[in-house]
Amino acid sequence: MSRYLDETHRRRTFAIISHPDAGKTTVTEKLLLYGRAIQQAGTVKGRKSDRHATSDWMALEKQRGISVTSAVMQFPYKERIINLLDTPGHEDFSEDTYRVLTAVDSALMVIDSAKGVEERTIKLMDVCRLRDTPILTFINKLDREGREPIELMDEVEKVLGIECAPITWPIGMGKGFKGVYHLYNQSIHLFSATHGGKIQSGEVIQGLDNPRLEEVLGSSAADELREEIELVRGASHEFNIDAFLAGKLSPVFFGSAINNFGIEELLDYFVEIAPPPQSHETRQRIVEPEEEKFTGFVFKIQANMDPQHRDRVAFLRVCSGTYEKGMKARQVRIGKDVKLANAITFMASEREHVETAYPGDIIGLHNHGTIQIGDTFTQGEELKFTGIPNFAPELFRRVRLRDPMKNKALQKGLDQLSEEGASQVFRPLNNNDIIVGAVGILQFDVVAFRLKEEYNVECSFEAVNVNTARWVTAEDEKKLAEFRKKASDNLALDAAGSLTYLAPTRVNLDLTIERWPDIAFHATREH
Ligand code: G4P
Repeated sequence: MSRYLDETHRRRTFAIISHPDAGKTTVTEKLLLYGRAIQQAGTVKGRKSDRHATSDWMALEKQRGISVTSAVMQFPYKERIINLLDTPGHEDFSEDTYRVLTAVDSALMVIDSAKGVEERTIKLMDVCRLRDTPILTFINKLDREGREPIELMDEVEKVLGIECAPITWPIGMGKGFKGVYHLYNQSIHLFSATHGGKIQSGEVIQGLDNPRLEEVLGSSAADELREEIELVRGASHEFNIDAFLAGKLSPVFFGSAINNFGIEELLDYFVEIAPPPQSHETRQRIVEPEEEKFTGFVFKIQANMDPQHRDRVAFLRVCSGTYEKGMKARQVRIGKDVKLANAITFMASEREHVETAYPGDIIGLHNHGTIQIGDTFTQGEELKFTGIPNFAPELFRRVRLRDPMKNKALQKGLDQLSEEGASQVFRPLNNNDIIVGAVGILQFDVVAFRLKEEYNVECSFEAVNVNTARWVTAEDEKKLAEFRKKASDNLALDAAGSLTYLAPTRVNLDLTIERWPDIAFHATREH
């Protein structure tokens, strides 16, 4: 096989989806530890002490800085090259978090065993479902008292609508946590707490009938375990690779990330089953990763908050071909060939200086606002990748301009920030308000800060009676015109001029959807 194909098929690109505090940062650290990408766990930035967001820009910059350095972590594991894409989580939760999921081939869902399925996880799963992304599940914090494993899997199945196939099964929990049983290679991995940077090497007992099990657990606990495993085998789904790859079934692992327990089993399984780079749809045709010509799309743009370096980094997922330092590529939207001179490549350890990127990899392109979310780069072919949407905002504010003379600059700034995906802007049909929409609260601070720094416009935000937004379309032009007339008080245009329904409440949205069966209400809009 050619080196190119070989490199492509080695790639495994994924992200972690979880609710804040479930353990994403800890799991990331431990994965990097196994990838030998960091010598000691505890060096991934973005831990709680660093992440108190305030409006002052130093803090903002720090916040953004954190996600630039850890936006993509690449490390080798066994024969694979793994790309782990960060999904900004706490206060820096934003539309980027959603869009990162359009650039991965699989996702790892981390769940806190005491809390179960939480709100943010539900939202992120909804995004994964748009592309039927394969999901692995890690149930974390087994060293603490949590909920019954069966109950947790039931909840995942019911709330998230995905079947669960346990790969490992916990033996006890909290103070009585003894380890996990691997249902497929019949080994019992005994728990030993190892904080910090050591790679766990607890005892492994082969086989449920092994007399050593009695020695370690005591004979009644060993019997209980055997019975429980039999029950679990009967009552749960068996792992099925096709159902997994179709996004319908998730293999489930139990462990304790902080103790570095259960992570190795997870990673070993991950590199076996996680899909290599997948094909991507464009408006014109499907692009296969094996194609030799370079293509890719931009899924995230990060502004540098430092006025001395006011460039932006556009994160591009390579879909086919190779990126080579200094190569030229066509930025299809503007029809120009641009030199990709010093793109950033991401290698968590600095052992190797990589200047080539393959399908599945991410590169960071420096630019001064000329790149937008969704932009396609090719070697000349007119392609436009699809499936990189805007997501309906969940938070809304009305913009208040300090100096009314700056209205033009404000409008321009908001439109550009909107194209970059920093936030969204809506202009109601019936009044002169300007409404900014976001999914994370920090997005408003970023917008205010950047308007001031980059457009010299000072503004503040105030509450507005909007709860949620839906883009509206209809096949029947007449019906749409009628809707536009009757519902005009709640309608607005976004930065791209698309008609949007701004609902004051969920109930209002539901009623409106019911009342207007010929109108389609969309929670996402394609770029
Ligand atoms: P996040 O990125 O998903 O927000 O979660 P993070 O890894 O920061 O973990 C959230 C908290 O849960 C942290 O404690 C972390 O130490 C703890 N944690 C992670 N994995 C485990 C586990 O397996 N068992 C137990 N018992 N705790 C775990 P914290 O005190 O809130 O923060 P920190 O001061 O340790 O950063």
